[in-house]
Amino acid sequence: MDGNGRWAKQRDRPRTAGHREGVKSVRAVVEESVRRGVGTLTLFAFSSENWQRPRSEVNILMELFMSALRGEVRRLHENDVRLRIIGERRAFPEKLQRRITEAEELTAGNRTLNLQVAANYGGRWDITQAARQLVADVQSGLLDPRAIDEQSIARRLSFPDLPEPDLFIRTGGEQRLSNFVLWQSAYAELYFTKLLWPDFDAAAFAQALDDFARRQRRFGRISEQVEATSVVSLYGRG
Ligand code: IPE
Ligand code: MG
Repeated sequence: MDGNGRWAKQRDRPRTAGHREGVKSVRAVVEESVRRGVGTLTLFAFSSENWQRPRSEVNILMELFMSALRGEVRRLHENDVRLRIIGERRAFPEKLQRRITEAEELTAGNRTLNLQVAANYGGRWDITQAARQLVADVQSGLLDPRAIDEQSIARRLSFPDLPEPDLFIRTGGEQRLSNFVLWQSAYAELYFTKLLWPDFDAAAFAQALDDFARRQRRFGRISEQVEATSVVSLYGRG
């Protein structure tokens, strides 16, 4: 979700006004996901690197996070959305951590949409914490180092129960991953739009989904093989 600051700047408003406006886009994209049958949506809200921003902006983002949790969780719950936060949450204010846990517990049984909000998340952080678990399991004799394969790593990343991302959308015109889900995005289709996040509405999201639906995913194989087997459908998956 990129471009909040620029959106505000274009209007001669403080950057934080852009963050506030961005919450509306979050709502629109979540609702459109439920409507279109997207099973899993992960939003990159705050990266491990965002702590380097001016203290005042970080504080406002934390407050916004708190108020969004307060204001949105009930509606998410009513829409059968399961909310989870991925990332190193111990760095957040105690009160925010408590609110996160409460929201996760409240929505734990919901199934229509898995909504992940990545906060203080970094793709390298995720792989590093998986490596740490792996070594601990080897040291305690649970795991034979010769048996380590890709699955051993994948299972220790954040939320191994979720499918890998099919579609990676970045708003704001930049064409880079910026340390988002790195391992899991190995085969993600990338979609970049110049729209700034506050301008990214349900229609813009629907356009990204339609663009994705037209792509052919080969996973290393050739077209003829893919055409001969099943077509992966965004809407058909459980
Ligand atoms: C939102 O956009 C991303 C967050 C960290 C909340 P930015 O704040 O990066 O906006 P730009 O890139 O400065 O326009
Ligand atoms: Mg930015």
